[in-house]
Amino acid sequence: MPRLSVNVDHVATVRQARLGVEPDPVAAALMAETAGADGITVHLREDRRHIQDRDLQILRLVVKTRLNLEMAATGEMVDIALKVKPDMVTLVPEKRQELTTEGGLDVKNNFDYIKNAVSRLRDAGIPVNLFIDPSAEAVKASHKIGSNGIEMHTGRYAEARNFDVRAIELKRVHDAAILSRRLGLKTHAGHGLDYRNVTEIAAVREFEEFAIGFSIIARSLYTGIPDAVREMKKLIHEARTAQP
Ligand code: PXP
Repeated sequence: MPRLSVNVDHVATVRQARLGVEPDPVAAALMAETAGADGITVHLREDRRHIQDRDLQILRLVVKTRLNLEMAATGEMVDIALKVKPDMVTLVPEKRQELTTEGGLDVKNNFDYIKNAVSRLRDAGIPVNLFIDPSAEAVKASHKIGSNGIEMHTGRYAEARNFDVRAIELKRVHDAAILSRRLGLKTHAGHGLDYRNVTEIAAVREFEEFAIGFSIIARSLYTGIPDAVREMKKLIHEARTAQP
């Protein structure tokens, strides 16, 4: 069965709105794990707008599943990852003004820069995925660079406003996932997945893991974190088991 890694960034977003101590992303992560999350993801952004260095250090100590650190491929972030030693790193592009990660890494045009980060992390025994758009070119470049795997950006699929566009984007994601697995890469997906759109993506058998944050944390305001996590896991599992 595919794994669900719950991104708890937006618990910290609420806390940072008042620069206080609650709600606590660490408490949220532990609740998510208890409800069946297979991993916890956080994005330590250069501007520290939500997750703080201290959150990451505590999460490293208490997360019992797998801690996935999303980060830019900068020297500062690589140094932090080498100290904290998350179970895996997902390298993402980062722009200061964006609301959230807007596109996948341009691996081809930043090859040496990204390769340097991948090599430093892998040499320290930390597996690295690259967050990329669903294109054959980006998958091949990720393979060439020596990453362990990829996380496919599902944002364009998730944002599609009609069925035709959605079908085109789904095919793009699926084709890239097939190629990724053929090249022996770990193949994950994430961004913009919610309770309405996750089923078709979860049905893509090539995906081993999904990183989902905003929709789960938003739903948890009404239902609490355990039910929000359980419901997402159920949808993912049903999508796989419903297939012939
Ligand atoms: N994967 C990556 C690489 C991301 O940057 C994000 C957003 O932080 C996510 C997954 C989770 O996206 P969402 O919050 O839309 O579920």
